[in-house]
Amino acid sequence: MIGVFDSGIGGVTVLKELIKELPNEHFIYYSDSINNPYGDKDYDTIINICDNITKYLINKGCKIIVIACNTASCTAREYLRNKYPDIKFVVTEPAIKPVFDNNKNSISLIMATKRTINSDNFNFLYNKYKTKESYKLMCPGLADLIEEGDKEKINNYLKDLFNDYLDKDIDSIVLGCTHYPLIKDMIKDYFPNAIFYDGSYGVSNQTRRVFNSLNIPSNNKLILEFIDSSNNINKEKLFFTLALDCNK
Ligand code: DGL
Repeated sequence: MIGVFDSGIGGVTVLKELIKELPNEHFIYYSDSINNPYGDKDYDTIINICDNITKYLINKGCKIIVIACNTASCTAREYLRNKYPDIKFVVTEPAIKPVFDNNKNSISLIMATKRTINSDNFNFLYNKYKTKESYKLMCPGLADLIEEGDKEKINNYLKDLFNDYLDKDIDSIVLGCTHYPLIKDMIKDYFPNAIFYDGSYGVSNQTRRVFNSLNIPSNNKLILEFIDSSNNINKEKLFFTLALDCNK
């Protein structure tokens, strides 16, 4: 059984890739929408939240936990790995290295939450793999707007957010929060020629490797369980629609 969590439905963008890699396994997805957004919270609060979710998923029987959230991964991974050495944690990272590997001369824009951009794990990656021109762009409140789902509000937000970057010939965009791929088409309207990168492929590959290394017997069929911390029935519907839309 594989646990997956995020501050809401954003991590479904990771889960979709996980299902492609491991199509016959049992996933429990914990959508912590009551605590959304993580990106504006302090270190101790994030640690406490992640610790509680981890305990819950371990009690359910998970041996592998995928942190389908850049913010939680950048903040809490060392803490969780130290506290639960028997559990394999797979983390999500902003896809800064794939941009660098593809084109070191890229003019890149890295979108992420405030907590991610201020974290040591993020800055380690950034300093090692930043491209010729590379802009860090904090997007406070964007994940909450995506949870809310009001397209007009999201578009007004994006208009202000991108104002200073439209004339910079951005050719690569890192979607450094698992919520952002859900609005990739809206972002594309501002940067039609950019290549988009997110961490979901790296996470799903790594999870398959970890799964195979543990020799866990296969479940032989896909099972998806969904828990939302605010018991929001609309989130559940949206979750299953997005998670099972594996063609996208
Ligand atoms: N989806 C999350 C991430 O990848 C966090 C969004 C938030 O709650 O601020 O960073």
